[in-house]
Amino acid sequence: MAVSTPRILDGRKLAATVLDECRAAADRLAQQGLVPGLAVVLVGDDPPSQVYVASKVRTCGELGFRSQKIVLPASTSQRELIGVVDRLNADPAVHGILVQSPLPVAIDAGEVVRAIDPRKDVDGFHPENVAKLALEDPSGFVPCTPAGCMRMIAAAGVVTAGAEVVVIGRSRIVGKPMALLLMARGVDATVTVAHSRSRDLAAVCRRADILIAATGRPGMVRADWVKPGAVAIDVGITRVADATKPSGYRLCGDVAYDEVAPLCSAITPVPGGVGPMTIAMLMANTLEAARRLSGKHP
Ligand code: GUN
Repeated sequence: MAVSTPRILDGRKLAATVLDECRAAADRLAQQGLVPGLAVVLVGDDPPSQVYVASKVRTCGELGFRSQKIVLPASTSQRELIGVVDRLNADPAVHGILVQSPLPVAIDAGEVVRAIDPRKDVDGFHPENVAKLALEDPSGFVPCTPAGCMRMIAAAGVVTAGAEVVVIGRSRIVGKPMALLLMARGVDATVTVAHSRSRDLAAVCRRADILIAATGRPGMVRADWVKPGAVAIDVGITRVADATKPSGYRLCGDVAYDEVAPLCSAITPVPGGVGPMTIAMLMANTLEAARRLSGKHP
């Protein structure tokens, strides 16, 4: 049953607005002699990670931030990687540190995250920042993708108070922090976190006024998973082979867009939805880290 033409939530446009705010704030900080600095560490040669890291570094340049890209071979040991993190922790020109996931299997990602100074943890993955999110303590950092989703939901004027929200996926990067943000005081959603082992996942999802898909399985959310009039936020961004594209692949969301969109009141596209918002929120976090570390508040 088609509801009406869905509203397409344009992540590129909203990200541009957030980045404009960051640029203006960075200009004011520069007048006080402070240039926000982000260090991005890439271990190995995962092709999507290379694209994401390049995009983060490019965006820093566009905002007048300093950036450092540190590329290490896949053979890097945990001790060597933590040594790099220690050096960045001690560098006063670096306000934000991001170690790109996924890391090679021989490295314990949790140990690496714990080595990052929580005040420079612009990913919001350090246990201290995870705890602050759970405690609704605003002095922490919120992970960028869930923060971007929240910003999109707010900008679309979607009412969260009392709404049934289903988050599909329980990752530490998206699903878990997303659930915490949605159940926070002032947001006041009724949150269900579903995952691949949930019983009758389709029926659980059909309860949702707002459905957030973060499974990494392209096209998993089908039309019969969606309540007519729901808002769909698609966090998936998987490369699927496509010989008609010059790159040899296309980016696919977790939502089967063509059949789901006509049912929705609003939906995020892939690409051009949540993806650009992730980078925008990373820049906002880096700016905030620079302010906090320097004590300067433009
Ligand atoms: N890999 C995919 N998303 C992310 C992210 O938000 N942060 C980091 N560090 N790695 C990622």
